[in-house]
Amino acid sequence: MSQLLIGGGRSLQGEVAIQGAKNSVLPILAATILTRSRVELRGCPRLRDVDASVRILETLGCRAGWDGDSLTVDTAGLNGWTISDILMREMRSSAIFLGAILARCGQAELSYPGGCELGPRPIDLHLAGLRELGAEIDDAGGILHCTAAHMAGSEIVLSLPSVGATENLMLAACGAEGTTVISNAAREPEIVNLQNFLNACGGKVSGAGGSTVVVEGGRTLHGGVYTVMPDRIAAATYLCAAASAGGEIFLRGAREQHLSTVTAALREAGCDIRSDAAGIVLSCRGQLKAIRPVRTAPYPGFPTDAQAVLMAALLRHRGATVFEENIFENRYRHVDELTRMGAEIRVMGRVAVVTGVETLRGASVRCTDLRGGAALCVAALAAQGETKVSAIDHIDRGYQDLAGDLRALGADIVRTEE
Ligand code: UD1
Repeated sequence: MSQLLIGGGRSLQGEVAIQGAKNSVLPILAATILTRSRVELRGCPRLRDVDASVRILETLGCRAGWDGDSLTVDTAGLNGWTISDILMREMRSSAIFLGAILARCGQAELSYPGGCELGPRPIDLHLAGLRELGAEIDDAGGILHCTAAHMAGSEIVLSLPSVGATENLMLAACGAEGTTVISNAAREPEIVNLQNFLNACGGKVSGAGGSTVVVEGGRTLHGGVYTVMPDRIAAATYLCAAASAGGEIFLRGAREQHLSTVTAALREAGCDIRSDAAGIVLSCRGQLKAIRPVRTAPYPGFPTDAQAVLMAALLRHRGATVFEENIFENRYRHVDELTRMGAEIRVMGRVAVVTGVETLRGASVRCTDLRGGAALCVAALAAQGETKVSAIDHIDRGYQDLAGDLRALGADIVRTEE
């Protein structure tokens, strides 16, 4: 098992290029099924979740291959519509394949993605929307048998703006005859990117980025070349790393408009942040100060995926800051690990109060989930002595090379085998 050894106390200096976005490339990989052809994805991050998506595509009869940071997928030979339970459980967002397989094959069989480290991960909104498009879905002991000989465009109102449900329904709607209107859709930049990808392949989708997404279905899609957008959560992580350790960094390719709530919080805490088309510069000197409550919310609100890393950046700040987690039930699992490093955090239900401490000390800590794992690294950069971070396979799900990027910024961090 790999682990990270991090020596704290060095400020960060320099530049890193931001990897392609995990949460954008995963739905795009599902969408390649609709093209029945070759798609080259440039700037594709090499991540465990991307590997899992590729394995799903391969078991369905598709071909895939890497050339540097380009991933080429050819879905012409797709000849299956079943995803095994093992593959479904490997990646929690595997449900996103359902809409695309149904649109292409008229049937699909897969199991529930199951609960995850963040708490239950229901897909009821995905299934209700697919039924509205005409799919018949039977749940036989946790295996979903789905058939949709003829899907027809429909008006779907989501009871909450689920990212995954919006993406799944956009893909299914491409295979439905007529127009589908998805109301109360999620507005995340990754949804806009999925729309752009579908349109680049000959689809007709509009409205993404707003609350109503309109899909004209029944069009024949074609392949092409597409560049993956920069990962806003990786960018938020490195901004928080520099806020924690101090210093000045430049994140090439990061787009501030995708993470303005995160940069607003860091500015309020005392960081100096500038950005332009090339990327974001953060400089941070001296002690951070307390900020107004951080409440996670669907985009454009504060992202739940950046909650843990911001909390880690504020552990030594002056005063106390309140966090309120409103998206996932179980998203404070990193708190116990941060406490081992000397952090002072009280959790009451969905609220966590972080009181700044004078010093953090290196400790032996364990990743509980992807972003929680990244938060441990952010905290370790500011701790006295060495921190050993184990169970880093969680981190590998979403960061191409967290240790290499932080090392390029001057951090004392190495990856070793336990
Ligand atoms: C996506 C992101 C994840 C991010 C999350 C919220 C990907 C691969 N993952 O996950 O990193 O943390 O958005 O920004 O893009 N819900 C239901 N029923 C459903 C679907 C969702 O109740 O059918 C609930 C969930 O339990 C959760 C909330 O809706 O409480 C938001 O979930 P959702 O937006 O669907 O997140 P994901 O797409 O799973």
